[in-house]
Amino acid sequence: MLIRWRHVVATLVALPLLGFFIGWLGIIPLGASGGHWAVTDWFLHWVMRNSTRTAALRVETPPPLDDPARLPLAAGQFEMGCARCHGSPAQGRSAATLAMLPPPPDLGRVVPTWTDAELFQIVQHGIRYTGMPAWPTTNREDEVWSMVAFLRKVPGMHADTYRELAGLSATPSGTVEPPSMTCDSCHAESRLDAGSLIPSLAGQSVAYLLESLRAYAEDKRPSGVMQTAMSALDKDDFPALAAAYAARPRQRLAPESADPQALDHGRRLAETGDAARRIPACLTCHEKRDGNPSYPRLSGQSPAYLATQLRLFVSGKRGGGPYADLMKTAAENLDEADIQALSAYFASR
Ligand code: HEC
Ligand code: HEC
Ligand code: HEC
Repeated sequence: MLIRWRHVVATLVALPLLGFFIGWLGIIPLGASGGHWAVTDWFLHWVMRNSTRTAALRVETPPPLDDPARLPLAAGQFEMGCARCHGSPAQGRSAATLAMLPPPPDLGRVVPTWTDAELFQIVQHGIRYTGMPAWPTTNREDEVWSMVAFLRKVPGMHADTYRELAGLSATPSGTVEPPSMTCDSCHAESRLDAGSLIPSLAGQSVAYLLESLRAYAEDKRPSGVMQTAMSALDKDDFPALAAAYAARPRQRLAPESADPQALDHGRRLAETGDAARRIPACLTCHEKRDGNPSYPRLSGQSPAYLATQLRLFVSGKRGGGPYADLMKTAAENLDEADIQALSAYFASR
């Protein structure tokens, strides 16, 4: 019995040493060109699917995903951050990415094999050892859900629909370089409406636009979409971009049929606040002619965007420029009905 125990202990010590020795010899092939053995491939995928399924059990119940306003920002993000590996409805996968191990799959084919929660898990956290990256921030579940909503539409999506959603201009066939995204692919006034989750920048103050760009760049305002959009941008370009957008006229939104009672509630909160509930009057800071230019203009902004930002302030996830803490305090006691009412009120001003 004693001798058997010794054998076991000796084996336990020897096995890792043997492993190190083989690793040191340099005889394990790591080249990707040969691919995996079929059994390795099967095993890795099996582990990945099981791991994703288990992790997805912790994912909150998906919010409604049928809002079409989710699609443009997600399509733009897809073009900037996913298409170079997965291809897109407008472009096949390149030979270079097909030579990755594992190759990024054609999402049009595999998306139907996953549930919404599993897609959320994959897009938010990425997949280790494969090159599949995590979302640039862990603080923006709303953006990740928009990507899930978009991925659901990818199977069978027409190239023109994709280009239209992502704000890409039509490309003549035979183009080698993919058409590029610009700020206007998302922010052009003509692409925005009352449901937009993408903000209008037109007529916003230069100071606020500049501080917002700096906040994204310095990781003080989390948004995977804006952080990706700005990754190739030079800090020296910020002032010119801010000035150009500030100088544009803001288009009038087609009036939404907002509930008059909600509008009234929104106006009262904006003008006088609610001292009992410790909600300050928004207009003491916002929309003042001689006010601090770091307090953004809200009038005529899309109500869907305003509501998203207010929810982010309430949950403490918004971040922002040097004065953002003032706004966090102003928003902390708002409930969902206040948020809807205030967003409708400011959008209609
Ligand atoms: C650098 C390349 C790369 C980028 C960029 C990338 N992916 Fe992936 N992705 C992969 C690879 C490789 C896999 C395969 C993982 C595997 O098979 O285990 C994958 C897997 C996936 C899967 C699971 C599909 C399946 O059945 O295996 C989804 C969904 C996905 N990616 C979505 C996205 C989205 C959305 C983006 C952009 C936000 C993105 N990917 C960006 C490389 C990439
Ligand atoms: C793929 C779509 C997309 C692209 C491309 C894009 N943006 Fe954005 N932008 C967004 C979204 C979505 C938001 C809201 C992000 C958030 O919740 O903080 C935003 C927010 C902003 C804001 C903050 C506005 C506010 O009212 O707080 C500024 C400033 C901005 N973008 C400037 C730019 C500039 C400059 C570029 C080009 C370098 C650009 N964006 C490219 C989608 C995009
Ligand atoms: C003490 C001044 C102050 C008060 C009061 C205030 N805000 Fe703000 N608000 C700010 C500042 C400063 C910012 C800019 C935060 C940043 O740096 O991104 C802001 C940003 C916002 C934004 C984000 C706009 C965008 O383009 O992303 C919304 C929406 C907003 N405020 C709504 C409100 C509402 C509604 C109220 C009233 C309940 C209110 N604010 C009260 C100072 C204030």
